[in-house]
Amino acid sequence: MATIKRISVRTELEGKRALVTGGTSGIGLATARLLARQGAEAVIVGRDTTRGREAERAAKEDGAVRFLAADLGDPDSVRELAGQSGPVDILVNNAGIYPASPTVEQSVQEYEQIFAVNVQGAYFLVAALVPHMLAKGEGAIVNVTSITASRGFAGSSVYSASKGALEALTRSWAAEFADAGVRVNAVSPGSTRTEGVLRKVGPEADKAVTDALGIKRLADPREIAETISFLVSQRASGITGTTIDVDLGAATTWRRSASAAP
Ligand SMILES: NC(=O)c1ccc[n+]([C@@H]2O[C@H](COP(=O)([O-])OP(=O)(O)OC[C@H]3O[C@@H](n4cnc5c(N)ncnc54)[C@H](OP(=O)(O)O)[C@@H]3O)[C@@H](O)[C@H]2O)c1
Repeated sequence: MATIKRISVRTELEGKRALVTGGTSGIGLATARLLARQGAEAVIVGRDTTRGREAERAAKEDGAVRFLAADLGDPDSVRELAGQSGPVDILVNNAGIYPASPTVEQSVQEYEQIFAVNVQGAYFLVAALVPHMLAKGEGAIVNVTSITASRGFAGSSVYSASKGALEALTRSWAAEFADAGVRVNAVSPGSTRTEGVLRKVGPEADKAVTDALGIKRLADPREIAETISFLVSQRASGITGTTIDVDLGAATTWRRSASAAP
C-alpha cells in the first residue's frame, strides 16, 4: 500500500498551481477560493474580463488568484490559455453552459456551442496540460458534470448528453493516465445556488426546482467546492475514474422528469 503522508488540510496544496475554468462565478469561483486558501496558486478562467478582474480582486483575500480570459468554445483560445497559464498540477474543468430546449426546437448552432464549451474545450485543455502532469508523475483533474448525466430531465437533452460525455471522458482519462500517477474524477452537482442558475430560474423559481427534485434547498457552491478540493488532494490518492454526486440526495430521491435543471 502507498505511504499516506499526514499533511495539514490548510496548507496541503502549497507549491501547486490549479487552473479552474469558469472560475469567475458560482461553483468555479468557490472552488478556486478554497484551493487558494489551501495554498495553491489558482488560475481562474472566463470570457468576461470585467467579471474576471472582480472575481480575482475578491478572491485575493484567500490567497494567490490570477485571472486569465479565454473562450473554452474556441480551440485557438484553449491553446493560448494553456500557454499563458504555464504548467499546472490541478485542472478543474468546470466551465459549462446550460441552455435548455425541447429536442424538436433545438437549433444546430446551440447544440454545437454546448458541446464546444462543455466537452471539446475540456478535452483539448486536458490534451494541452496533461503532458506536464504525466512527465512529473502526478496530477489531478476533476470534471464538473451534472445530475442530468445520469437522470432524464425534459428540455435538457443536449446539456445532459454533454455531461454524459464528460463522465465517459473521466473514465477514459483515468485509465489512460493512471500508470503515470495522474488521477481523473468527476463531481456531479444537483441544483446549486449560483449566479448562472439564479439568472436562469430566478430566485422565486428556486422552490419549484427543489420541490420537483424532492429536496429542500439548492446546494451551496462551497459544498461542491469541498468535494473537488478533496478529490484533488492527496487524501483522495486512492480514487480515480469515479463520479461523486453532490446533490443533496436528488439523484437517489428523484422519481420523475423535472423541468430543465442543471
Ligand atoms: N449551478 C448548478 O445548479 C449546476 C448543477 C449541475 C452542474 N453544474 C455545472 O457546474 C459548472 C458551473 O456552473 P455554475 O452554475 O457555477 O456556472 P455559472 O455561475 O453560470 O458560471 C459559469 C462560469 O463559466 C464561465 N464560462 C461560461 N462559458 C464559458 C466559455 N465559453 N469559456 C470560458 N468560460 C466560460 C463563466 O464566465 P464567462 O461568462 O465570463 O465566460 C463563469 O465563470 C457548469 O459546468 C455547470 O454545468 C451546475
